[in-house]
Amino acid sequence: MEFYVYDNYDEVSKYAAKMVSDFVNEKPDCVLGLATGETPIGMYKKLIEYNREKLVDFSRVKSFNLDEYRGLSGSHPQSYRYFMDKNFFNHINIDKHNTFIPNGICEDVKKECSDYEDKINEAGGVDLQILGVGSNGHIGFNEPSLELCVYTHLTNLTEETMKANSRFFKSGEEVPDKAITVGIGQIMKAKKIILLASGTKKADIIGRLFSGKVSTENPSSILQVHPSVAVIVDKDAGALI
Ligand code: GLP
Repeated sequence: MEFYVYDNYDEVSKYAAKMVSDFVNEKPDCVLGLATGETPIGMYKKLIEYNREKLVDFSRVKSFNLDEYRGLSGSHPQSYRYFMDKNFFNHINIDKHNTFIPNGICEDVKKECSDYEDKINEAGGVDLQILGVGSNGHIGFNEPSLELCVYTHLTNLTEETMKANSRFFKSGEEVPDKAITVGIGQIMKAKKIILLASGTKKADIIGRLFSGKVSTENPSSILQVHPSVAVIVDKDAGALI
């Protein structure tokens, strides 16, 4: 695991975007695993700039997002499909048909999960996975638990995660309590992983990534046994390293 600590969020976003664009330039038909949340927004902004300046080309890239809320359609402003279109895909030269996100309103969830898993495998697996991390250690929506799920599955969100995510929803609007998420097995199969974190509220969980202790109660801790992980954080999130 390599740790990179930068002065502030802007620097984190810039260096993460540089790493991603270098990767895409090296393998123009690569498969990216993408994340939502506030943290990667700055990196997406930078990548949009690089794409406009023709420093990186996404025309042959495929992408698979980590997760989607159960019950939200792609046109719902809080859905992750909407988030990705708005913050990234609408502004770069990726073919939208090559951007995959689980369907939150599918009728048959089990089928949706196994089809999603198959699609990732048929694409050759994820080459570069971008991750954020929840303050409780969740990656994707793999929440702390007695056991971790290997494959794409429907999961219950913890109170803590629902509370954290409620900041994006209008007051009175129902925050989904379930999501479809890629499992830990698929995340760990990615050839390279970049984990981003910013702000003091992530300091504790990032500190624990450095401790060497792997536990299902902290899903992000499993990344310590992955052969190629770059953790890119700002000073606040890296305060306990
Ligand atoms: C969400 C997403 C995660 C993300 C996490 C942290 O629940 N499912 O993929 O990493 O929250 O979000 P943020 O970056 O907003 O702190």
